[in-house]
Amino acid sequence: MSLRSAVDEARTSYVARNPKSLECFRRAEESLPGGGTRSSIFIHPFPLFISKGEGTSLLDVDGHEYLDFVSDFTSGIYGKTNKVLRDAIVTALDNGIQLGAHTPFESRLASLIRHRFPSMELLRFANSGTEANLLAITTALKFTGRTKVMVFEGGYHGSLLSHFEVKKDQLVEAELVEEDRKNEVNVLTVPFDYLVAPYNDLAATKSLIQANATSIGAIIIEPMLGAGGCIPGDATFLRGLRQLATDVGAVFILDEVQTARLGFGGRQKTLGITPDLCTIGKFFGGGFAFGAFGGKLEIMQMFDSRRPGAVSHGGTFNNSPCTMVAGATALEQILTEPALEALNSIGDDMRDSINAAFKSLSAPYIVTGLGSINQLHCTLPGKLKTAGLDLVFFRLLERGYWIAQRGLISLNFAMSQSDVDGFVTAVIKVVREMQDLVMD
Ligand SMILES: Cc1ncc(COP(=O)(O)O)c(C=O)c1O
Repeated sequence: MSLRSAVDEARTSYVARNPKSLECFRRAEESLPGGGTRSSIFIHPFPLFISKGEGTSLLDVDGHEYLDFVSDFTSGIYGKTNKVLRDAIVTALDNGIQLGAHTPFESRLASLIRHRFPSMELLRFANSGTEANLLAITTALKFTGRTKVMVFEGGYHGSLLSHFEVKKDQLVEAELVEEDRKNEVNVLTVPFDYLVAPYNDLAATKSLIQANATSIGAIIIEPMLGAGGCIPGDATFLRGLRQLATDVGAVFILDEVQTARLGFGGRQKTLGITPDLCTIGKFFGGGFAFGAFGGKLEIMQMFDSRRPGAVSHGGTFNNSPCTMVAGATALEQILTEPALEALNSIGDDMRDSINAAFKSLSAPYIVTGLGSINQLHCTLPGKLKTAGLDLVFFRLLERGYWIAQRGLISLNFAMSQSDVDGFVTAVIKVVREMQDLVMD
């Protein structure tokens, strides 16, 4: 059988197994374009509708249970249910859902974040990673009085700062670059004056920076491309970029919205890099909508309302009490240094085990990433890449494992080592079973 026929078969079986999800989808598409409100979680041909989550399990409306290896695209690090968070949130709710005033809760969270990220001498809260990045970039342009924003191929800084086109096959190795599903669709991008540089290519980036030395106000980068395929930034590249930003007087922004969970002080601590501004989001809101940007005192103090000419920064839910309390509780009690180290080490071992098996099978797959954030890539040429990923995705679902259709594999604290071991066995089994297929 050919790969494409196997994918068709797996998809047909998926449709047959999920009539209630299809019914929900039909109802949803009456009000929501494509039946949803978040493109990244769409599944072709229709998504599963989840009715409940517990621990690391998801239960769909047709009664199937899945072990969740997406973990809400890294933000769901706590699992679906967490008693510590729940109790803190209930107490916060009892003290007033919305207060519309300064509270002690926001300074508690801010201080915990500063402790982890000394680069954030002062910080401000927002409601998403997207918003934090928009604020950081706009702040950098205002601070420098310049117009250009350097971003990187394959970069993702949020729904409005999305997937800057990959022009070169050089992110890791030529055959690794995804013919990314995302690149086949249009993205919405705020029309800043962008310079798009190649990720992990210091020489080419340096030329571009030098050619625009007096107009670049902001350089924003993920220390590991997240949505762009879990491609780690090379240490020499990232350190060199930090220096180049200083040389030309641009504000260097590290987007740690995903990578902040790779260590107690994020990837910046591991690499010994101090950005001028840093953005975080996702899990630091303890399960609620969250974003924050912060950095050098001389930049961030422009938001100090006592100063003449202070910059106004509003946001109704910036200091929502539930978010502030949930975030602080998570930082104090759950996202501890040993807990993060343990989770990331499980992720490193998982990636190594899967890659060793792929290698011994000469399978056209590889997992890239760092710690607990990883991505399965298919290395077949052209459109077969997508078919290769789809087949693994559908066959894992049949076995009760949920990964992102684009290949993201992200761990969470509710998982046990035996959950991860079972997942590794399932991935290897699925790929081994594909060995008889004709790759066409
Ligand atoms: C690196 C990075 N930056 C920013 C964002 C945007 O965060 P949000 O979805 O909270 O807007 C994401 C989301 O996946 C991300 O991965």
